[in-house]
Amino acid sequence: MTDFDSSCSGCSGRREFLRTALTGAASIAALSALGPVNAIAALAPRAPGGSVRYALPAADGVSIDSANEVILCRTNGEVFAFALSCPHQNTALKTMPKNAGFQCPRHKSKYLPNGTFVSGRATRNMDRLQISRESAQIIVDPDVAFESDVDPAKWAAALVKV
Ligand code: FES
Repeated sequence: MTDFDSSCSGCSGRREFLRTALTGAASIAALSALGPVNAIAALAPRAPGGSVRYALPAADGVSIDSANEVILCRTNGEVFAFALSCPHQNTALKTMPKNAGFQCPRHKSKYLPNGTFVSGRATRNMDRLQISRESAQIIVDPDVAFESDVDPAKWAAALVKV
């Protein structure tokens, strides 16, 4: 298991860190203990550089696709896709109890279910991924992330109404 120290020295790259943090069922079980979290997989393997498709979540909740590093969250009539990593220093985010939002295990930043920053060391909201809907499927591009401090309009628009 990865040690979450409070310094940035020795931080791994984003993909390397997330692979370590989220490989295997034990990681998903740890996330599940914090809230109603489900592990999901894309409906089909992702082509290199392509988008991924998921079934439209039928109810409010959080789903984690660790292979593609995507958090899918349905809440209050909206679906969001987030980058799995914390925008501060790329630590894999977890859900808070009762699905009240997300928390970073490294420096304790907290975020609302829609990704809005609440408290902690992070300096922006969770990064939202490009998302669209096609019938009963959600389409997400894990390579297109909107940072709220760089492009607030695109960040705000990155959601699907259901
Ligand atoms: S890595 Fe520092 S708050 Fe998440």
